[in-house]
Amino acid sequence: QRRTALSAMGLALASHHAFAQQPIVIKFSHVVTDDTPKGKGALKFKELAEKYTGGRVKVEVYPNSTLYKDKEELDALNSGSVQMLAPSTAKFRPIGVPEFEAMDLPFIFNGEEGYYKTVDGPIGGGLLKRLEAKGITGLAYWDNGFHMVSANRPLLLPADFQGLKIRISGSKIADLYFRKMGALPQIMAFSEVYHALQTGVVDGCENTPSNYWTQKFHEVQKHITVSNHAHLQYAVVTNSKFWNGLPGDVRGQLTKAMAEATRYTNSIAKQENVDALEKIKASGKTTLHYLTPQQRNAWVVALKPVYHEAEARVGKQVVDDLLKSAG
Ligand code: LMR
Repeated sequence: QRRTALSAMGLALASHHAFAQQPIVIKFSHVVTDDTPKGKGALKFKELAEKYTGGRVKVEVYPNSTLYKDKEELDALNSGSVQMLAPSTAKFRPIGVPEFEAMDLPFIFNGEEGYYKTVDGPIGGGLLKRLEAKGITGLAYWDNGFHMVSANRPLLLPADFQGLKIRISGSKIADLYFRKMGALPQIMAFSEVYHALQTGVVDGCENTPSNYWTQKFHEVQKHITVSNHAHLQYAVVTNSKFWNGLPGDVRGQLTKAMAEATRYTNSIAKQENVDALEKIKASGKTTLHYLTPQQRNAWVVALKPVYHEAEARVGKQVVDDLLKSAG
């Protein structure tokens, strides 16, 4: 009997040991390819997280909508099916944090400098904090530069948008600014855009050079305008219950890995987009256009009323604060 008790104890110990050895798995799902600033950032986080935790954490990265598409991602985070995401700030509308969309205001950031001043300052931090009430912890912002816009005709002046169906990723602000140009914006998952452009379900879209290149949007759009009219940024987020339930030392190591992965991603984002634009140009598959100062001004004037309209959605204070820090 003693032997049975001892061996039972041995078994219990062995299984406890095996349990202790099981790594904590972080599933990190996103919708772009590995070969983008976000894709590379996620892989960098994996590398550093596994290194700093000595293998106690295993990060599984699922790129290019292989696990979840736009709409499903946030539900999956909520239910614990994934532990980490990096959606664009334009995609937080379904969970009820519309304030994030203020960062989609057209021509709001004075270049990348204005963008970094904003996300690294109290506004960026304050917006991430608003996620806490939804059970989400915001860990970082990752940069992906400025949007271009495209269709099968040149888009140089606001009137050129008249009647075009334009795919948007989810933000009400993007909906407002495309409507101001006379276009018909439609929300659609990122993974469906190429096919929709190819078959004419939509006429055009906006995105950064890196996303055009890696999704081949430029192959199904005859004209792209390098308009830099709005900025694309991601909020890297995790499930708060998961995050707060981690052993403190592990959470510290992951925080360090995230800080470094963030510095890395933000350091490559600009060049990745410059390179992607060069490749698009060299492909000869589309015609690139650049706005003259007069054309750009016509856009700025046409879109100015969006700031006021946005206040009803994101709050006047948020727009005012953003205007101050973004300039
Ligand atoms: C989009 O849906 O256009 C972007 O948010 C995709 C991405 O994650 O860069």
